[in-house]
Amino acid sequence: MNLKRTNQTKAAITAVGGYVPDAILSNEDLEKMVDTNDAWITSRTGIKERRILKDPNKATSYMAIEAAQDLISNHQIDPSTIDMVLVATITPDLPVAATAAYVASSIGANNAFAYDLSAACSGFLYGMSTSAAYINSGRYKKVLLIGADKMSSIVDYTDRTTCIIFGDGAGAVLFEPSSNEFGWEDEYLRSDGTERMSLRIKAGGSLYPTSQESLDNNWHNLFQEGKTVFKYAVSEMANAAEEVLKRNNLKGEEISYLVPHQANKRIVDATANRIGLEEDQVLMNITYYGNTTAATIPLLLNDNKSKFKRGDKLIFAAFGGGFTWGAAYLSWAY
Ligand code: UT7
Repeated sequence: MNLKRTNQTKAAITAVGGYVPDAILSNEDLEKMVDTNDAWITSRTGIKERRILKDPNKATSYMAIEAAQDLISNHQIDPSTIDMVLVATITPDLPVAATAAYVASSIGANNAFAYDLSAACSGFLYGMSTSAAYINSGRYKKVLLIGADKMSSIVDYTDRTTCIIFGDGAGAVLFEPSSNEFGWEDEYLRSDGTERMSLRIKAGGSLYPTSQESLDNNWHNLFQEGKTVFKYAVSEMANAAEEVLKRNNLKGEEISYLVPHQANKRIVDATANRIGLEEDQVLMNITYYGNTTAATIPLLLNDNKSKFKRGDKLIFAAFGGGFTWGAAYLSWAY
């Protein structure tokens, strides 16, 4: 279904914020932890370093709150006017008790309701769809969407195929009704649960509750069949982006920026090539942050916000565990 419509409220991103922890985990640091090397990691993923939230007493909410406060202070938002707080994450502070509720209370969003959204690396993309739908419906006026993950809390730092990829971070955007013709234009979202074991934390849920067996077998850490995920991601992220361009009659040269989930530079390159983009049209932060899961896209927006001009055409694309994936088209409204 094409979401293009006329004479209806469009949802616009009106504010952006972000946070990454100070501590850096470089490829050279990883060389001392597992059998790997900087040349392999750089050529296979594009990553040089990641940020790690080292303090064991600080969790995902800490970074989400920092990102939200950055947005609130940059754009002088009164937090009591926020209607809804969504946190996209796969690393909630607690398995039960929405991290978003804690974040909302901590930032003074006392008139908001709040919940978490779990769709792994597609979490922020799906969250944008949810936020835009609430605004489009006219039901709410200010939706704060945060993507935040403390991946270091679930990564196995003895597994060289996984630990080299991930980092910690958070980013936030505010969705409001657009005051002009720009905003959320279209989306194409998909999932395929038959591949859920290819990228997973096996235990701690209702299928494999925590047990001595789960602890002994390391089933509480993130595990991925790298090759399988890569193969799907390369084709589906590109397919989704191509579909969004096609049905909106957009050509590569008309796109201002691709804002892709940062899992592997080779996956992003494949998507950019498929839709005919030049390198300067593709936003990247994987080199310095690695894959921050739900935070990659809002961190890209935050790091590049000074570049955006009203009317710029942004294409978002993501692929992640579930599997979940998709692409979206937004015209920048401020
Ligand atoms: O964001 C959520 C979704 N996640 C993703 O999209 C990740 C998708 N997958 C990937 O990005 C890639 O599959 C990886 C980066 C995880 C792995 O890259 P790859 O090119 O698929 O490597 P591979 O697993 O095919 O391994 C190639 C070789 C193997 O050695 P042999 O069997 O050819 O001798 C691995 O043992 O590279 C070896 N290898 C490593 N060598 C040095 C695997 N990991 C490492 C490492 N350092 N860290």
